[in-house]
Amino acid sequence: MPREIEVLLSKEQIDARVAELALRIDAECGDGEMVVVGVLKGSFIFMADLVRHLKRQLTCDFIRVSSYDKDRSTGIVRMEFDLTQPVGGKNVLLVEDIVDTGTTLRHLLKHLETKRPASLKVCSLLFKDMGTDSRKLIDYLGFEVPRRYVIGYGLDSDGLYRSLPYVGAFKE
Ligand code: IMP
Ligand code: MG
Repeated sequence: MPREIEVLLSKEQIDARVAELALRIDAECGDGEMVVVGVLKGSFIFMADLVRHLKRQLTCDFIRVSSYDKDRSTGIVRMEFDLTQPVGGKNVLLVEDIVDTGTTLRHLLKHLETKRPASLKVCSLLFKDMGTDSRKLIDYLGFEVPRRYVIGYGLDSDGLYRSLPYVGAFKE
């Protein structure tokens, strides 16, 4: 039986916030071409909406890492595939769905820094405060969410629920 879901962030709330984030990114990220790097798979819906609000010239690329086994973090980050273009000297915007423990983001930042981009900024739709200091790694944040497993708008539970237009959590 499908589990009951409680809406935490409505489609309208998300749409409005994504537009605000894009305005800030356009205003603050300087001139020059930007490479928007989505972390697959969770960021694909957020990134698709975000880039359509950005007014600057940009290219899109993707990177894929995995650390989750079902709904639990294993703490070990595995690179599954890397960017398809050199980003040396370019302005990179890394787009994440959620920063939870921050393990994945730290790993990605270390990896991307070795490619010597001109700038490297992080935009995450969600942040869950797990008592680590990973909030400071996020330059552009959509929303803080409670310490619950969240799904929808790209985020999955065992591969399901990514297509929900809102962010929700399973009812207890
Ligand atoms: P972290 O390494 O613990 O920060 O987790 C990073 C990745 O795990 C995120 O990019 C998500 O893909 C996934 N993740 C963490 N928490 C959640 C959640 O509550 N719902 C869905 N995916 C999550
Ligand atoms: Mg992710």
